[in-house]
Amino acid sequence: MTNKLKYFIGNWKMFGDFRSLKIIYQIHRFCTKFKRRDIKNKIILCVPFTLIYFFTKKLKSKLISIGAQNCHHRNIFGPFTGSVNASMLKKAGAKYVILGHSENRLEGETNRLIKKKIASALEQKLNIIFCIGETLKEKSKNKTFSVLRNQIRGSIEKKYNLNKIIIAYEPVWSIGTGKIPKVYELKKTFEFIKNEFKRSFKTKKFPVVLYGGSVNDINISVFSSISDIDGFLIGGASQSSKKFIDIIKNYYK
Ligand code: PGA
Repeated sequence: MTNKLKYFIGNWKMFGDFRSLKIIYQIHRFCTKFKRRDIKNKIILCVPFTLIYFFTKKLKSKLISIGAQNCHHRNIFGPFTGSVNASMLKKAGAKYVILGHSENRLEGETNRLIKKKIASALEQKLNIIFCIGETLKEKSKNKTFSVLRNQIRGSIEKKYNLNKIIIAYEPVWSIGTGKIPKVYELKKTFEFIKNEFKRSFKTKKFPVVLYGGSVNDINISVFSSISDIDGFLIGGASQSSKKFIDIIKNYYK
């Protein structure tokens, strides 16, 4: 079930300005040096809209890709104050976009709206990092699997280019709290997500599934033993080059 390539994706959230280019350069320097024959990594940094164009212009390297953190669901220019659409992201240089993050679901994003956003981002040939995850209340009622199933089926269609969709399993109760699921829970949940995806869309290929929620340079070793985890969506800790680099280093220790 394992996909050998490992993803380390930073979600900067509402962080960063032009001086943060320094962080990107430090991560890039690490990437140029960190080469092992048995390891293949994909490093992606999802930054605020205001920094996408600047970073992609400055960083002319294939070692790090730049992504966005959300987009509007329509690829038109129109009266949507404060919004940015997938075609604008593409033109700014983004290759990826995070969609369905729980912080945006909390602001009212539904599975239906997220589905439209996925369709519009795919139309622009962007890669999607699609976030799913249960709340603490849902977990305590043993509803985790049904919540994940509804999120997957409610926002993805079989006709979509499934190769361009990466799933990020982020339990809502774990984001920014320092709490992470137990190893046996993660194993069961990752197996569920991978099989559910195959079943729902009648595809032969397992999807790429990442873990996200309070990943740091210390707890990363816990995840190394779970081969079904194809990588990580890292929030707070990705805002520091040292922490982000240490996460990668310690994962392979
Ligand atoms: P965290 O955030 O690593 O700060 O918990 C993860 C995320 O929100 O993607």
